Amino acid sequence: MNGIDILGTGRYLPEKVVTNGDFTSIVDTCDEWIGTRTGMKKRRFADNSEPVWYMGAMAGEDALKAAGIRASDVDMILVTTVTPDFYTPSTACQIQLKLGAKNAFAFDISVACSGVAYAFDMARRYLACDDVKTVLVISTERLSQITNYKDRSTCILFGDGAAASVLQASGKRFSSYLKSDLDGSHLLFAARPVREIPFVDNTAPVREIFPEQEKSNGCIVMGGNDVYKFATRAMPEAVVKACEKLNITPGELDLIIPHQANYRIIETAMKKLLLPIEKCHVNIRDYGNTSSASMAIGLDECVREGLIKRGDMVCVVGFGAGLTYGACVFEY
Ligand code: COA
Repeated sequence: MNGIDILGTGRYLPEKVVTNGDFTSIVDTCDEWIGTRTGMKKRRFADNSEPVWYMGAMAGEDALKAAGIRASDVDMILVTTVTPDFYTPSTACQIQLKLGAKNAFAFDISVACSGVAYAFDMARRYLACDDVKTVLVISTERLSQITNYKDRSTCILFGDGAAASVLQASGKRFSSYLKSDLDGSHLLFAARPVREIPFVDNTAPVREIFPEQEKSNGCIVMGGNDVYKFATRAMPEAVVKACEKLNITPGELDLIIPHQANYRIIETAMKKLLLPIEKCHVNIRDYGNTSSASMAIGLDECVREGLIKRGDMVCVVGFGAGLTYGACVFEY
């Protein structure tokens, strides 16, 4: 059995709504620019009572409830995040503690906004072995923590949130196509701030892997136009390649749930696939770009709102820092 069964999904979104208009008080921007260039109207921001592990645990609890599964029945917790609260332990281990998932093993993966595609692929590979029966996949992000509020071209893009799925093995159809593009790796990053430490020469220049890395200081640095071009190439490629592995065409998909980075990226990708935008689930207006949580939130909305039904062929497709990209096509 190489496929997955999605037993239940869930999500957690912070209450605080930040509108496009709110940004006009901190940077030179306007609702009209943000709306037409990105499709975003608002996003959610977590406060300190809603750390990344907490949002993830709440989403996980929601998904377990929907699946009718107890935390103690979970064998593996797989978390995707670019904004962990701790260097160590992993967010997955923190969520395991909060949920009391005492029989699970837990770990994080770092693939930025492509998280769900990579996590579903990884989960189904574990599920193909008998000793893992139930996997809880959680994507939880607090982008507001790594946003540069002086940079108007990035600070308006991101939001916070979490969503989760409970997966088991099944004979349903599944395929994946995962890639990372080294040529674009310098286009999107957030580097840990440099600390002064004893015993070493703190004046030694930081050996940089990316040009102008010092600009980051813990915040996102992005070459927006180039990421845009990359995304409009990578998303259709991933959808087509994942479909090919199942001998279907993108036209045979019932719904595509893309990473929500920019409405115009989604629109262009759909045009390249020769598919109507209606084949796509879009929620960018309300939540902005929540990194890996975006496809997970989209999936939960589709499940709960009945936008997908059992037997439908669904595709999740994303791209992000790395530059990673990928798609999973699965029978729901
Ligand atoms: N408000 C008003 N003006 C803004 C602005 C803002 N928030 N941000 C940038 N601008 C200005 C720029 O300074 C520039 O001004 P100039 O022409 O005087 O130099 C102008 O708008 C056009 O900037 P540009 O960067 O060409 O805009 P764009 O249409 O490419 O949109 C992004 C910018 C970031 C929205 C777009 O490139 C994008 O979405 N890229 C992909 C981002 C992405 O996917 N990131 C996540 C990956 S997971």
